Amino acid sequence: MEKKIFNFANDKNLENMNIVAKAIKEDELVVFPTETVYGIGANAFSEVAVNKIFEAKNRPNDNPLIVHISDVSMLDGIVKNINEIEQNLINNFWPGPFTIILEKTEKIPNCVSCGLNTIGVRMPSNKIAHKLIEVAGVPIAAPSANISGKPSGTILQDIYEELSEKVNYFIDGGKSEIGLESTVVKVENNSVKILRPGKITVEDIEKLGYNVSLSENLYRTVNSNEKVESPGMKHKHYSPSAKCILVSGVEYNVINKINNIINNQTNMCIMGFTEHKTQINSDKYIDIGSKNNLNQISNNIFSGLREVDKLGYDVCIIEGVEKQGLGIAIMNRLSRTCNGNILEV
Ligand code: TXA
Ligand code: MG
Repeated sequence: MEKKIFNFANDKNLENMNIVAKAIKEDELVVFPTETVYGIGANAFSEVAVNKIFEAKNRPNDNPLIVHISDVSMLDGIVKNINEIEQNLINNFWPGPFTIILEKTEKIPNCVSCGLNTIGVRMPSNKIAHKLIEVAGVPIAAPSANISGKPSGTILQDIYEELSEKVNYFIDGGKSEIGLESTVVKVENNSVKILRPGKITVEDIEKLGYNVSLSENLYRTVNSNEKVESPGMKHKHYSPSAKCILVSGVEYNVINKINNIINNQTNMCIMGFTEHKTQINSDKYIDIGSKNNLNQISNNIFSGLREVDKLGYDVCIIEGVEKQGLGIAIMNRLSRTCNGNILEV
């Protein structure tokens, strides 16, 4: 079938949205932008459509999907027993980069939740995503738009190269604003547990007066036989083909360490901060932003990792950030990218 690419980046009226929304209703897959990363979406009520997502991404069938809605009224009938804390989190963080795990009803097929009795739900703030869901009139199940294991997609071109054989409808909405996937939380025993860190930080949630805890497994890949609360943690993720090594710690030590490693290797690139470009002795430098600007860094990580592969490097040394605020989400993704190759200096 002919591929259809809709460029809505500069189209405020979103006039052709009904064509794409119709595709969703006809059980087709649609790649669409959100404020976090691009998603590959399907009608969350349709088992046929949802199964196409797993097939297109080559996604393990124990990794559940997030259901996206455009209005809180869409929660009616798909989840039950929302408690006061959950409601308050929803009121504060929607629309936005925030996913909450809730008890699901039978209206959502089991393939969405991979057999769990819960689903993650999110209301994106991106106008294009919002309009797509609204016009389709059904919740949209959508994981990040990438082949499983690869970095998430933040510009349409990267995703198109990867998924054009598998998906017919693509919406271009420009570069993702945040660049990292949503914060995923679960409310347990009156406190909030962060299963996947993101733009909504521990501090943002603590400000509402709740106890917040972080999942124990943020900086390592969990073995396939371990039981975890968020199945996504079990799988290889965010990985280019190149071997990646994360170096973090005291700034001076990090720069020295990287320079030492460079001396011994050849086809190697560096993903580092703007300020360090002149201090690191490599002309294969992928600048991921200022060391003082975590928003900029989170926005450049996935496109940077994809560049590593496009340029054909065998090894990539990546500079780490402090595990604080948004830095927790950045280090979570980079630790997974580097799969245990982590140097603290
Ligand atoms: O920002 C985002 O969340 C993006 C955009 C497209 O909205 N979506 C996204 O989806 O990142 P995905 O499938 O790549 O990640 C979903 C994460 C996985 O880590 C999965 O394990 C977790 O959410 N998850 C989904 N349903 C869950 C559930 N019922 N219980 C625990 N974890 C769940
Ligand atoms: Mg993903």
